[in-house]
Amino acid sequence: MAHRLAHTASTGGKRHLERDARFARLRAEHIDYFRSALGSSDVLDGTTLEGSLELTGFNEDWMGRYKGNSQLVLRPRDTSQVSQILAYCNDNNLAVVPQGGNTGLVGGSVPVFDEIIISLSNMKRIRDFNQVSGVLTVDAGVVLETADLYLAERQHIFPLDLGAKGSCHVGGNISTNAGGLRLLRYGSLHGNVLGIEAVLPNGTVVNDLSGLRKNNTGYDLKHLFIGGEGTLGIVTGVSLVCPPKPKAVNVAFFGLPTYDHVQSAFQEAKLRLGEVLSAFEMMDSHSQDYVHRATQFKRPLETQHDFYCLVETSGSIANHDYEKLEGFLDHVMTEGIVSDGVVAQDVSQVKALWHWREGIAEALSKAGGTYKYDLSIPHKDLYQVVKATEAELVASNLLGATDDFPVESVLGYGHMGDMNIHLNVVVRRYSDSVQNCLEPWIYAWTQQHNGSISAEHGLGLAKKPYVGYSKDAVMLDLMTQVKKLFDPKGIMNPYKFI
Ligand SMILES: Cc1cc2nc3c(=O)[nH]c(=O)nc-3n(C[C@H](O)[C@H](O)[C@H](O)COP(=O)(O)OP(=O)(O)OC[C@H]3O[C@@H](n4cnc5c(N)ncnc54)[C@H](O)[C@@H]3O)c2cc1C
Ligand SMILES: *[C@@H]1O[C@H](CO)[C@@H](O)[C@H](O)[C@H]1NC(C)=O
Ligand SMILES: *[C@@H]1O[C@H](CO)[C@@H](O)[C@H](O)[C@H]1NC(C)=O
Ligand SMILES: *[C@@H]1O[C@H](CO)[C@@H](O)[C@H](O)[C@H]1NC(C)=O
Ligand SMILES: *[C@@H]1O[C@H](CO)[C@@H](O)[C@H](O)[C@H]1NC(C)=O
Repeated sequence: MAHRLAHTASTGGKRHLERDARFARLRAEHIDYFRSALGSSDVLDGTTLEGSLELTGFNEDWMGRYKGNSQLVLRPRDTSQVSQILAYCNDNNLAVVPQGGNTGLVGGSVPVFDEIIISLSNMKRIRDFNQVSGVLTVDAGVVLETADLYLAERQHIFPLDLGAKGSCHVGGNISTNAGGLRLLRYGSLHGNVLGIEAVLPNGTVVNDLSGLRKNNTGYDLKHLFIGGEGTLGIVTGVSLVCPPKPKAVNVAFFGLPTYDHVQSAFQEAKLRLGEVLSAFEMMDSHSQDYVHRATQFKRPLETQHDFYCLVETSGSIANHDYEKLEGFLDHVMTEGIVSDGVVAQDVSQVKALWHWREGIAEALSKAGGTYKYDLSIPHKDLYQVVKATEAELVASNLLGATDDFPVESVLGYGHMGDMNIHLNVVVRRYSDSVQNCLEPWIYAWTQQHNGSISAEHGLGLAKKPYVGYSKDAVMLDLMTQVKKLFDPKGIMNPYKFI
């Protein structure tokens, strides 16, 4: 995927930026200091030949779209080392970028110029788990999947499940306030994270690793770090409340004729499935065509429909949930809300049905290229954005059936239950005319429809020019003052959205 996206690197948000002259350039004495503080093996020095090769993966983002030019990666092993190196960087005006699993999709986790990369990958201790409360306390560098496996052995689950779970870190998830597939059921990380330990740029450790669910004692400052994208400090530890592992999971997949029918089905699902409803995902027909083309799997339903939904229930008694799900499906089919549907009969069918939702991103990566937008829009207009984008591209003569047109199709899918759509513009080739047609048009449309320009991926560098579409002047001013309070010298993840 990297080589295809590389074409857009020049327009990846960096073009109007210049290196901030207030920041010092890296010198040999700095590297010597870090070696003495951390030990040589936790300092990757890019000023040497072997080192520079090792640094490539840290300097480049997951999409291959953003590339930095850092000469140094530091891999602290505990909070006191993070504190020590940040205090030194602050004193010496050395800019830094915190990095977790580097799976972020907005260019936030890689340097823009020569910032020092502080990787949390060596901080992977599971600190504590309490069976009664379900509270888990971990280092920020614990990989999500590791946490999930640890919890599974104790009949619990992590309150978050993402496509990138094999590599993203808990600390990175917190810093981006990641959403994912279970948000409908378990809520956002603002509800699940009980406490945070973080290091401020001057080395001060903020110790707020609370294990309490209720604690109304003034400003709840941990929330600034959730979704803070590494601009206020480095998250080193997290405590969060984890739900018990559901004993029974059931999945239904169905086809519907219009988006209005999708909205009705969602309302019925909430009414009839109640507390066992754990996911409600929507996919349009174009998105399913790409999965079919990429996998050649047999489609779950005999006939084709304009919209598809996947509904998942998680509960404690399989038969009970299955009955509820069948009852729901009977009802919506009798009422004409749903045209056709199936319920998975076993675990392998559950997996197969999920693939028609989870396999979309991979299927699209086989096309020429994709412009991706992660938008939150109130339900009534949620799918309208796909139609409006299509019309805009047709009017600009950019979308058509033949090779003369750069755009092949516009499609949408996403977390219907959370008002979150992934809008994808699939192109035969990248072109500035497509990008200029889409941006900032798409952000203005979203603002006019009371939506947010970033549902779950954050702002990073990618959306730096567009923050104003989702935050007004008063809020931007407050954000700037908070940033100054936490990071007066501005060394934390500079050049990004703030
Ligand atoms: C295949 C795939 C599927 C995805 N699916 C989803 C999804 O369903 N939902 C969703 O919300 N996102 C999704 N994402 C986006 C991404 O995985 C998330 O944003 C994730 O939370 C990033 O975690 P990370 O550890 O990789 O962080 P990184 O990419 O390393 O960093 C992300 C940001 O957080 C900062 N940061 C990282 N660690 C720390 C720390 N310890 N302290 C302070 N700041 C820090 C970085 O500076 C950067 O700004 C997906 C990505 C991929 C590649
Ligand atoms: C972190 O985010 C990734 C990617 O969005 C996701 O796959 C993973 O499940 C998340 N991890 C945790 C612990 O929430
Ligand atoms: C309660 O919350 C405050 C700040 O919001 C925090 O500093 C404190 O540690 C918490 N108390 C406990 C016992 O967790
Ligand atoms: C957006 O919200 C405002 C204020 O609540 C409302 O007047 C307006 O009609 C909304 N716009 C749309 C497109 O729903
Ligand atoms: C560190 O920074 C914080 C936030 O700016 C500030 O409150 C604190 O006094 C500073 N500590 C030291 C030792 O300078």
